[in-house]
Formats: sequence, C-alpha cells, structure tokens
Amino acid sequence: MKGKRILLVIGGGIAAYKVLELIRRLREQDASVSPVMTKAAKEFITPLSVASLSGNRVFDDLFSLTDEMEIGHIELSRAADLVVVAPATADLLAKLAHGLADDLASTLLLATDKKILVAPAMNVRMWENPATRRNVASLRRDGVLFVGPEVGDMACGEYGAGRMSEPAAILAAIEDALRSDTRIALPGQPLAGRRVVVTSGPTREPIDPLRYLGNASSGKQGHAVAAAAARAGAEVVLVSGPVALPDPAGVRTRHVTTATEMLAAVEAALPADMFIAAAAVADWRVADVAAQKLKKGAQAPVLRLVENPDVLTHVAQSPARPRLIVGFAAETENLIDNARAKLAAKGCDVIVANDVGEDVLGQDENQVTIITRAGTEIWPRMRKDHVALKLVAYLSKLMEADRAR
Ligand code: CTP
Repeated sequence: MKGKRILLVIGGGIAAYKVLELIRRLREQDASVSPVMTKAAKEFITPLSVASLSGNRVFDDLFSLTDEMEIGHIELSRAADLVVVAPATADLLAKLAHGLADDLASTLLLATDKKILVAPAMNVRMWENPATRRNVASLRRDGVLFVGPEVGDMACGEYGAGRMSEPAAILAAIEDALRSDTRIALPGQPLAGRRVVVTSGPTREPIDPLRYLGNASSGKQGHAVAAAAARAGAEVVLVSGPVALPDPAGVRTRHVTTATEMLAAVEAALPADMFIAAAAVADWRVADVAAQKLKKGAQAPVLRLVENPDVLTHVAQSPARPRLIVGFAAETENLIDNARAKLAAKGCDVIVANDVGEDVLGQDENQVTIITRAGTEIWPRMRKDHVALKLVAYLSKLMEADRAR
C-alpha cells in the first residue's frame, strides 16, 4: 500500500464513524488518503476529524474557486490509484448507477477513470428495494467493485443485510483492488443471452422439528459465482440452502432447506446453458424425521440415514442436460485424484477442486484447482469473488470454444 493514493468518498450514514478507523489503518500502511465528504456525511462525522486523521484537507465543494485553482475536480478524481466510497448510501449508489453529478462526490465518481470500490451501508429495506437492486446490478456490470454489505443488527434496530463491512474487511478489499484488475478478468458480457443455474450453501436435513444435520458451508463461493455470472450478462437462477448472506443483486434466488428441495428447485430452473453445483449438499437425510422434539431418555437415539439424491448427477443425466456442467469437489485429502474421480463419476465437464481446511470454510479467500478432461490448472489463492470472476471468464471461453466446434 506504500505510496498508493486513495480518493475516499464519505457518504452520509451512521456507518461513517467506521471510516475514521479505516483512514487510520490506511495511513498506518503508508497510503495517502484524499477525503471527500458529502453534505450529509458532515451530519455524522466532522470534517475536522477526517482532516486530522487523513493529514489532508477535506474536499466538499464543487464550486469552490480556490479548490479549482489548486486542483480541479477532474484532476482530483484522476490522481488517485483507487476510488473508495464508504459508506456507500442508497443515494450515492443510485447517483453512480445513473451518472448523476450534482455535488463534488458524485461528480468525481462520474469523472474518474480509476477503479471504484463501494462499501454499501443502509437499512435492509433500502438494500432490498428493487430500485437499489437494479442499481447494484448495473454497477456490478459496469465493473464497480463491492465489499459487503454484511448481514447483522442495524443501528435502526432492524436485522438484515445492509451493515457496512468492518474497516479490516474494507482494507482487505482495497489491497485486493489495488493488486488485481478485475475488469481485465471479465471483459464485456461474455454470457449475454445465456441462462445459468447455480447451487450454493449447505442443505439442512431435519432430525426433529428443532434439530438438523448440516455442514459448515457459508455459501460465499457459490453466491460469488452467481453474482459473477450475472455480471457477465447471464440470466442467473441461484438455488441456495440456508446461508447468512444477502441475495446477490441481479440474480433470481430460490431459497431451499433440504437436498430434496434443492433438486426440485434446480429441475424447475432448467433448461439452462450452464449448471454450476457449488452447494455442499448433505449426502444423507434422516429416514424417520420425528414429528415432535426428541426427548432425552435412558438411551441416546440412533439415527438411521438414507442417501440423498445427487443433484449434480441428476442434472448431468437429465434429458435437458445443460451444455456445460461444473461441479465442485470439497476434499480433505488426495485432492486431485478424488476430484478427477468425481469428474468421471458425476458426468460433468469441469470440476473446481478445493481443499476444505479451516482456512477456506466461511473465509473470504479460496485456492482452487480446475480439472477438465484436457488437464489441470492450479490457481493461486485469492478472494472468493475473484475466483468467481476468473471461473466465469474461464467457463465463458469454454462455451465459446464449444460453439466454434
Ligand atoms: N453434489 C450434489 N448433490 C449431492 C452431493 C453433491 O449436487 N447430493 C455436488 C456438489 O454440489 C458438488 C459435487 O457434487 O458440486 C461434489 O460434492 P462433494 O461433497 O465434494 O462430493 P460427494 O459427491 O458428496 O462425495 P464425497 O462425500 O464422497 O466426497
């Protein structure tokens, strides 16, 4: 981060206080921060604290003659290595999506030729409003990078998606954005006109009305793949098990609980051009689900399990088989051999193999190996959303090559 120049646009939301910590951390890493505050931001934190922590003056006025003489707004937006918007309010996202420029912050966002990273923060209803979802979807398509929002308690007393990511997560996303150019990873809309079905998250198999068999899948990788496919222009249906993630913007999400429900939802979503099975589907379900809560007794209950349907195999064998079928292989040992065996056994075209240690499950980074009948590619460890973009770019090329044949 040494010497990197961050243009930090601070929007007006209660999460603005977290930005002070972000500025402190950026400065600790020797990045320089040029802060811009909207009028509303100044209602939440003072320009004086922002200026003191950043060691820079705060820009806030589009029509300041002295500012324009020292540094014009175009120059301000171009001199940066990265533009960060935090908190990115619903209003700022809307302005950015529609190209409005009625104050310094929005003018800079429209004038910049640099990458923009936004950290949304708003009430859950505002985040879920169709207007915001449309704006987020078009921003993603334009290549704007997102960090968060997270699901959790909100300042307004509600619970849901819309909390701004913590400063540490925003910092990691900034480092990542500075390191790699994701616009290059996914140029244009290579999946325009295609239909893609993605599964994600765990499934839960009930034992009794309160208890279930589950697994530790967070759904982060599968959801990122669905979002990346949407960014590539595809019409995406995401069939998700229970996760603590917001539905990705621009994607139709079907919520399911069990493997049987997942299979039904996937079958209903076919036909498709591509099926990507990223879910950690439970292999077994309980044969006799208790109608009432099991009570402690003299003997611990013995659960009899029966095998669940294999969603991936069903789709691969269905008469409506999509042209490209992608499975994931979560392994704890013999990664490549086991994954290669799954490629053949499940009849898919690509297997994304990952070693599922503690440093992958629920984390933001992943290291995967891509296995096809033609060979094996080991990809470096990177953020899960970058794995998703790289995977979608890779799959788009496979589709293209397939069509050319
Ligand atoms: N899968 C599926 N339905 C199942 C089980 C797995 O669709 N009932 C899919 C997963 O989404 C993944 C792939 O199959 O794309 C491999 O999943 P994984 O859990 O690694 O393998 P399993 O088939 O469960 O085999 P094992 O548990 O023996 O490793």
